[in-house]
Amino acid sequence: MAFAKITQVAHYSPTQVISNQDLSERMDTSDEWIASRTGIRKRHISQTETTSDLAAEVAKRLLKKSGLAAEQLDFIFVATISPDSMMPSTAARVQAKVGADKAFAFDVTAACSGFVFALATAEKFIRSGQYKRGLVIGSETLSKVIDWEDRTTAVLFGDGAGGVLLESSEQQTFLAESLYTDGSRGEVLQSSFVGLSSPYSNKEVDHKYLSMDGRAVFDFAIRDVAKSIQSLLATAPVAVDEIDYFFLHQANDRILDKIAKKIGVPREKLPANMMEYGNTSAASIPILLSECVDQGLIKLDGSQTILLSGFGGGLTWGTLLVTI
Ligand code: ACO
Repeated sequence: MAFAKITQVAHYSPTQVISNQDLSERMDTSDEWIASRTGIRKRHISQTETTSDLAAEVAKRLLKKSGLAAEQLDFIFVATISPDSMMPSTAARVQAKVGADKAFAFDVTAACSGFVFALATAEKFIRSGQYKRGLVIGSETLSKVIDWEDRTTAVLFGDGAGGVLLESSEQQTFLAESLYTDGSRGEVLQSSFVGLSSPYSNKEVDHKYLSMDGRAVFDFAIRDVAKSIQSLLATAPVAVDEIDYFFLHQANDRILDKIAKKIGVPREKLPANMMEYGNTSAASIPILLSECVDQGLIKLDGSQTILLSGFGGGLTWGTLLVTI
């Protein structure tokens, strides 16, 4: 029986850093407003790099860390809502950029849950026994889908990429999973930078830039997401206090405070880095995981159990419990 295991983690973010103070020079906002409501202080914004450039850099770092050649990869999945193009997919571009000739590649679109949904998908491919290893990357250049005149959204997001190498293993490391979608509430978070027009259509594009109902998203996160984590924990094969860290999507520090309280976990077990990166959607969880590996919090030696939980547009939300 084949199982899947996370064996390497890496991240990459553009070097240009935009502070809250910088933003307050372009729009009517302040460091105090942004930091007190969200925890965000900075974000990295790409100057020339595309989503596939960021993801390819992560792929190269994963290959270098693991000592693998690109031809040894069986697949590359990229979770993104800011692809370079719809076709070719960002994953196909990454496959070409790293020369992973034998890998099949596709994108996963599940907004801020994208990395968790892609990882859950990849785990099934490896568990089928047909594929041995692949990359799962979350990568975003949200700076290109944001309306930089809209202070209610522009201050929240950033660019970056993170990912993992997933390999087959004899040890079962994916311990529990729950994935959800509620399309009926999809309008609370929308983004469409692909214009819909033809000579036979008079349809207006309603939502060119990313738009959201911030209060509704906040309530969704602290109600539905907290509840889903609670129910996964209630039936999980390990006790809650045996879980070392909870890697939640980095949208807002206050959301993390409230979820930690609801699920009865000390806040110190929920690492955060939105202060440095803002909300990087599908990239937020793997960037955070990679930073925690760099800091020695995550040892990658199979001795720790972590929970990964993404939530966002769709609406989508999903949680994985994994030994790492
Ligand atoms: N700077 C200064 N003032 C602002 C800004 C800003 N950047 N943005 C909004 N305001 C103003 C509003 O205009 C409003 O002014 P008014 O009272 O004169 O009308 C006032 O601040 C309060 O606005 P609210 O929207 O009520 O502020 P709230 O306290 O709800 O915080 C926030 C807004 C931070 C967006 C919050 O609702 C939130 O965190 N929601 C979660 C949304 C989120 O994280 N989305 C990320 C994408 S989804 C995801 O990743 C899951």
